[in-house]
Amino acid sequence: MSFDLVLFGGTGDLAWRKLMPALFQAFRHGTLPEGGRIIGVGREDLGSTQYRARMQARFENVDLAKRPSAEEFAQFAALIEFVRMDLSKPDDYAQLAATLQARNADTVVMYVATAPALFTTVCEQLAAAGLNTPKTRVVLEKPLGHDLASNREINRTVRKFFEEKQVFRIDHYLGKPAVQNLFALRFGNALFEPLWRREHIANIQITIAEELGVESRGAFYETTGALRDMVQNHALQLLCAIGMEPPINSHADAIRDEKLKVLRSLKPWTQESLTQDVVRGQYAAGAIDGDKVPGYREEAGVNPQSNTETFVALRTEISNWRWAGVPFYIRTGKRLAGRDARIVVNFRPTPHAIFNATMGVANSLVINLQPKDGLELHLLAQGPSNRQNRNAATQVLAPVQLDLDFDKRFGAERVGAYERLLLDVIDGRLNLFVRSDEQEEAWRWVEPILDNWAADAQGPRLYAAGTWGPSASSAMIARDGYCWSEES
Ligand code: BG6
Repeated sequence: MSFDLVLFGGTGDLAWRKLMPALFQAFRHGTLPEGGRIIGVGREDLGSTQYRARMQARFENVDLAKRPSAEEFAQFAALIEFVRMDLSKPDDYAQLAATLQARNADTVVMYVATAPALFTTVCEQLAAAGLNTPKTRVVLEKPLGHDLASNREINRTVRKFFEEKQVFRIDHYLGKPAVQNLFALRFGNALFEPLWRREHIANIQITIAEELGVESRGAFYETTGALRDMVQNHALQLLCAIGMEPPINSHADAIRDEKLKVLRSLKPWTQESLTQDVVRGQYAAGAIDGDKVPGYREEAGVNPQSNTETFVALRTEISNWRWAGVPFYIRTGKRLAGRDARIVVNFRPTPHAIFNATMGVANSLVINLQPKDGLELHLLAQGPSNRQNRNAATQVLAPVQLDLDFDKRFGAERVGAYERLLLDVIDGRLNLFVRSDEQEEAWRWVEPILDNWAADAQGPRLYAAGTWGPSASSAMIARDGYCWSEES
């Protein structure tokens, strides 16, 4: 099967940091279908040779193990061309159409990794140039809009020219091996299903913590913030993966129907819950790994009086038979104490305690997304024997854990998130992409939070870089009698 992959935003940060390295990995692993061509599109006046040279220089920033040798690069570069385009000019699309028609590949992927403001223009112009044929697939990067209205507007325009099955909305968290493992864990094993419900689960915590600050993206982040950047998409997709009902089969729509039901079941916000169950924070100066780092308001491209949040913690519930009353806590932020993405499922304590020492201690399942990728099952076991303490009532049980490290177990065979997703687009598999109705529902749910913040002059609570966010985040969860997993 031959394919052309057209990468709009071909000289952008995402192309250099994620997409080209991922395509190279697929090429190296022999999974990139043969007969492929990759066309970088950008405004600059570059020839293909210059573009390849620039890419080779960028590969120097990639982890050594993922960097091509000179020979590998030469082979990979043979697939790559550059086309200069001004995305607002119809003539430039006509020229692109001529380039594509000359080869007439079986599949044409249009990867729109540009500023979101250009999404609708690109789709309209592609259609005007006759490039919306049934063999075309469009990939849209997040953020898809700024709120529900703008998201709908993008989806409406895209739908005018492409069918839903041609549209691949990326949420790269769905491509992470740990997230696919979560589906495998839940729907490939019978063990957890009977326990996966309100009768046995006390609470679920989703944390996506980053050590990095906003880096060079200050201007973008100013108008985005953590709620739009991480919660509306990545964190809610994780919540869906944890909370959804078993789909009737593994087809894309069966999975997406179940995720949509979760989003529709999220407890609606009230003025009270908006005040009590949502914490917004912003990092102040602090230290990461012993090095001083500036506060958010001192970052390049950021307003010194900015109220943009770099941290969000919230509490919600899924109002259905399985989950009613179980708190789901979501927390994400930049410049936190560690890079750590994990989901913690805390089970209820035993209904009747015969070991005093275990009072209040519950079992938990930890799904580690990064930096490690694996599963930990935390249990209590008979500790080292203690001669003074042979009475069961005062026996000291020791916490132990079953630890599955997927990186060690499957190491070399693991496929990175973007690599996996790009191959899925080329193959036309939609399972790990977000449908428009899911995305709109997620926007609908986060919008009251945005509106509430817009009306709240108090602004975000500051936290020192290198900590776990404002203390209000721990206070929020403590009100339910729980604590974040790193505090337990
Ligand atoms: C992106 C956000 O979607 O995800 C970034 O825009 C964030 O702000 C990134 O840093 C985190 O992704 P990962 O895979 O590094 O956890």
